Amino acid sequence: MPLDDPLRFHRRAEPCVVVLFGANGDLARRKLIPALFHMRCERLLPPGFAVVGNSRTPLTDEAFREKMRAAVREFSADTPFQPDHWDEFARGLFYVPGDSRDAGLYQALRSRIEEVTAGREMPDNVLFYLATAPALYAPIVEQLGRAGLANGRGWRRVVIEKPFGHDTASASELCGRVQRVFQESEIYRIDHYLGKETVQNILAFRFGNGIFEPLWNRRYVDHIQITAAESIGVEGRGAYYQQAGALRDMIQNHLLQVMATVGMEPPAAFEAEAVRDERAKLLRSIRLWRPEEVPAHAVAGQYGPARIGGEDVPGFRQEPGVDPESRTETYAAVTFYVDNWRWAGVPFYLRTGKRLARRVTDVAIQFRPAPHSLFEGSGPAAGRWIQPNLLVLRIQPDEGISLRFLAKRPGSGMKLRSVSMDFNYGAGFGVRTPAAYETLLLDAMAGDATLYIREDMVEASWRAVQPVLDVWSESEFDFPNYPAGSWGPPEADAMLARSGRQWRNP
Ligand code: BG6
Repeated sequence: MPLDDPLRFHRRAEPCVVVLFGANGDLARRKLIPALFHMRCERLLPPGFAVVGNSRTPLTDEAFREKMRAAVREFSADTPFQPDHWDEFARGLFYVPGDSRDAGLYQALRSRIEEVTAGREMPDNVLFYLATAPALYAPIVEQLGRAGLANGRGWRRVVIEKPFGHDTASASELCGRVQRVFQESEIYRIDHYLGKETVQNILAFRFGNGIFEPLWNRRYVDHIQITAAESIGVEGRGAYYQQAGALRDMIQNHLLQVMATVGMEPPAAFEAEAVRDERAKLLRSIRLWRPEEVPAHAVAGQYGPARIGGEDVPGFRQEPGVDPESRTETYAAVTFYVDNWRWAGVPFYLRTGKRLARRVTDVAIQFRPAPHSLFEGSGPAAGRWIQPNLLVLRIQPDEGISLRFLAKRPGSGMKLRSVSMDFNYGAGFGVRTPAAYETLLLDAMAGDATLYIREDMVEASWRAVQPVLDVWSESEFDFPNYPAGSWGPPEADAMLARSGRQWRNP
């Protein structure tokens, strides 16, 4: 097999019915149905493929198809709408209305699944996708179990959206309840960051090339910054977000998974269990803060109103659905250490926030400076914070990689300046990048869990943030502490400044 053509990227989904709970919800309309439709356009879906959608809204199959057509047109603005493909795809969309707490729904679903598989001559493979409110995950799974839908002649798999639990204890309770019905190998806990091409590319970059891995450790790396900055606010999700906050919404899952990908050891093989073992090991090696250590290593923020580009932007407490006294953080920055041989003493700084200055997600690997500088304006002797070698893995939106190094300025003398070598995905490949959900849906249908979260990974990532959650739940913050459109609260700068470092503001 040629090296650049691994099997995982060249297979097709196995014929199956996707039973989509929450089919009329935001995630289904914005991400899931558009992703499935793109897969249809790219011929990645098997013939006969069908979706049976469910939510409480009474809709006929026809009305559901119309709604989904409107959603695809609205949310896949990057690709032209192809009516022929749509008609073919829409013939495989079905809808069963009903309350997912009601046992009667599951009988209706069972007959619909049987009807659809028989009518479309498909094997009895079913992928249940839970895109509902998190409080419904366990009840739905239990109802599936009671109705006998969790077993069949073909395979059964269940995809569960984030948030998986609200803290360590609730995540473990949810794990237990789901595992009483499905086996761990049938449970696909999704974290859409792992499906992003640029996050998958971290593995290609690290383990496909020979020259970076020798530098990827405490001898050469000074520290690592992982940033997921959003310029948008809470966009009508105030009520959910107020319960979650930035630490639960982004760090516990997405950013810790990115950190695990950046920090993990090379897996023995590119196979689900081998890759997940290494990610899990890294997450388990994160040092757990004692309560008294939390204030020095974690910073919470909440945005206040501001005037940006001549427009008044509300603060978090003024957003719809948000308590005007809300103490929820919309910004979180945490320092983590990984207590293993590779990373001992190297801080990983993770930060995320809403209404920051720009939308940008990236990983910056800051290398140590040259031990001795021969040149003017470089190295520690320059008396400034100049650490020339910086590798930036740009996750989004300007996907690419850049490596910064020093070069001689043209002219007499020996003056140096930082320059950078850049790789840009768009220019480099010139093809459409599949959305994370396309990759992940295909993986689930093909039975490949490499990019899904295993039970031990969920547990380890909750354990890493739990001390911070505990201390913050007891703390009084002086919120709001950063204006919308800025780079976050000054305390986050102070956290790095204490060790002589600073955030890059990309
Ligand atoms: C979601 C969070 O999981 O990820 C949102 O709940 C956040 O609050 C989103 O906006 C960010 O995803 P992306 O792919 O736009 O970076």
